[in-house]
Amino acid sequence: MRAGAETREARAFRERIPEMKRVFRTCGLVGAVLLSLCLAMPGQDVRPTREGQPPNVGQAAEPYAVFDTRPVILHGPYLVAPTETSVTISWETDTPCHSKVLYGVDRPNSEAISARDGLLNVGTHHTVHIRGLKPGQTYQFQAVSTRVVKMKGYWPDKGLTVMSPAAKFRTFDSARPSTTFYAVTDTHEDTARIAALMKLADWTNADFLLHLGDAFNTVENEDQVFARWLDPLARGIGPSTPLVYARGNHETRGPFAREFHRYVPIEEDRFYYTRDHGPVHFVVVDTGEDKPDNTNVYAGLNAFAPYREEELAWLETHSRESKRMADAPFRILAMHQPFWGYVNGENDRWTDWANRSGIDLALAGHMHRFSFIEAGRRGNRFPILVIGQDQLAKVEATASQIKVSVLAKDGSLVHSFVVERRAAGSRQ
Ligand SMILES: [Fe+2]
Repeated sequence: MRAGAETREARAFRERIPEMKRVFRTCGLVGAVLLSLCLAMPGQDVRPTREGQPPNVGQAAEPYAVFDTRPVILHGPYLVAPTETSVTISWETDTPCHSKVLYGVDRPNSEAISARDGLLNVGTHHTVHIRGLKPGQTYQFQAVSTRVVKMKGYWPDKGLTVMSPAAKFRTFDSARPSTTFYAVTDTHEDTARIAALMKLADWTNADFLLHLGDAFNTVENEDQVFARWLDPLARGIGPSTPLVYARGNHETRGPFAREFHRYVPIEEDRFYYTRDHGPVHFVVVDTGEDKPDNTNVYAGLNAFAPYREEELAWLETHSRESKRMADAPFRILAMHQPFWGYVNGENDRWTDWANRSGIDLALAGHMHRFSFIEAGRRGNRFPILVIGQDQLAKVEATASQIKVSVLAKDGSLVHSFVVERRAAGSRQ
């Protein structure tokens, strides 16, 4: 310990002097001595009165200081990539807070907290993973944030609480007979484009929005992430439609690229994952950058070669071990680059994995122009739809077929096609 530094116990004792004075006035010397002995014991947790503390306003029952300052929810809450038994909810406040979500089927009488390693998270961006849910169940929820005015070892200063308006989410469910979702890609910070495309969809009858990446040109900062992407999306889809996201190569660029994952907090904490809803097993992959790691523009800061190896190994394991991958009526691949990234000959390896895994349809972007690559044209045994930059794809899947309609920004039909269910033995 630094010479002359005040110990925690000594500091606690000093902070309780006003309380001891008050006890002396009311109980006399004996009471004050007893209290001082209690306070001097290491590790003793004695609750203070408010004497010597800032006034509590609005939450007068709390034994710690609560200032009359209420946080504001600036962005969200928004839903990210639910599973059959969990959902992820994120939002942003103007000042540091700790947070939780109230939720329940009939009323929000359960709560899930944002915490790590035994500590409630305190910050301005909040993420709560709610687990242990029922498949296909609709839940009510409200996001709750309580301001933390100043962090201290003992007696942090608190503020008041804000709650989001009541909203609903529904978990995914592989037992449902059908699913309908919409896909867009390469919105590239164009908020007018996002608004126009979101208006083309019937969100009340959609299960989720799939964004296939390149939401940005380069990822610069938090304000940009909300202003150029998440807020315009939320205005279109509302608080109850979840976002399922495949990372684009442009999301790997820029000073905020390494923070970006916090704003699309996929439960698995990585950008490749699977989901099940209705008759579809979704495999979302990260096709990474579009140039080799040693390309000069990256200045030696990229390591996508080993990342791709890890991802491909994971996909192989998933195909080998997932019963749902084998048994689902359909397997849809969601990815940004239609050919996985054209570096180091990996395309053939990944296409081989997809062929062997019985992928029925791939949805991609990156090219900014519509393209439909029929099965067999480039070694793929499944069709690849490349959605254009100003287009919205509606995907409707039942147990027997997938129907896809691609709409232009003005609502006109660009292309439509149907993928029929294949017998299990004919997939490879
Ligand atoms: Fe791209």
